[in-house]
Amino acid sequence: MTSILGIETSCDETGVAVFDTRRGLLSEALFSQIALHAEHGGVVPELASRDHVRRLSGLVEQALAEAGVERADVIAYTAGPGLVGALMVGAAFATGLATAWNVGVIPVHHMEGHLLAPMLEPSPPAFPFVALLVSGGHTLLVAVEGLGRYRLLGESLDDAVGEAFDKTAKMLGLPYPGGPQLAALAAQGRADQYRFPRPMTDRPGMDFSFSGLKTAVRSRLPPPEDAQARADLAHAFQEAVTDTLTIKCARAIEVTGFSRLVVAGGVGANLRLRERLGTWCAEQGVGLYFPRQAFCTDNAAMMAYVGWQRRAEGRAAAEGIFATPRWSLMELAPPCPT
Ligand code: KG4
Ligand code: ZN
Repeated sequence: MTSILGIETSCDETGVAVFDTRRGLLSEALFSQIALHAEHGGVVPELASRDHVRRLSGLVEQALAEAGVERADVIAYTAGPGLVGALMVGAAFATGLATAWNVGVIPVHHMEGHLLAPMLEPSPPAFPFVALLVSGGHTLLVAVEGLGRYRLLGESLDDAVGEAFDKTAKMLGLPYPGGPQLAALAAQGRADQYRFPRPMTDRPGMDFSFSGLKTAVRSRLPPPEDAQARADLAHAFQEAVTDTLTIKCARAIEVTGFSRLVVAGGVGANLRLRERLGTWCAEQGVGLYFPRQAFCTDNAAMMAYVGWQRRAEGRAAAEGIFATPRWSLMELAPPCPT
């Protein structure tokens, strides 16, 4: 096998990539549905599914042309977790195309994609490492001893970090998707005008809870016309979140004794988080690894990479269409030897 076509459709981004096992990533195409969902203030699952249908063939043609290949040797697609309709579109498309090409399919786990996204960078982390996975749907701290050897250290008991960013942004009247918008507003804010709790940092453990923080923000919301106060509040919210994440990462490093930290998922694109963790890791002599910003948020390059790592799990398209909206990262096992 030399080339893998990756397909990502778990939420509101349609991604297609071609990865070559010798030459690395050959091409990557992405269509973001932001404009489609913005007027509704959040992702509308049915609209997401329909738009994946609309975009996939064009993106595949584009990615193949950019890679300079006519087809791939295998197709890896996101089988879960995610929105069931959106996943089904990717799964059905991948399986249909694999039938036409007479190649196999590899159903891959979306969060394993995020986890391994830093492997696409020029200096990838070696195992073992601690991974902080922060996306719109998940907040996980994981001890990673190798591929498929994942131990859960902590997770969010309620809202995911990305969700907390999105909901807080909405309260501030910012358009969807809130995370990057809130981060931009926070950059205009002054320090120490507001102070919010660092949830669950005063007790042992590495679990998170962000719903109380959201409530704390709601109770202090300035009037819409006070632009400076809103920026100050966004700043304080971002400080509370990045502080909390840094404290829990520090605990995870201490508990595991590992000397490498990987941060991935949409919120990993947050510059303040990168800065906070960067300072802490430099002080402690801990290696810090991020995917490039574009590979923090959803993309198909990371899914194609997982497909390569899990090539032994390829199946015949005739076996049927497989997708699962609920799928824990901890259920994964190490890949079979090839
Ligand atoms: O990983 P991702 O693209 O999709 C999921 O798998 O959920 O993550 C999307 C999440 C959204 O909640 C979005 O608001 C957040 O990541 N996000 C950010 C930033 N960029 C994306 N949050 C804070 N700061 C950012 N710069
Ligand atoms: Zn994601």
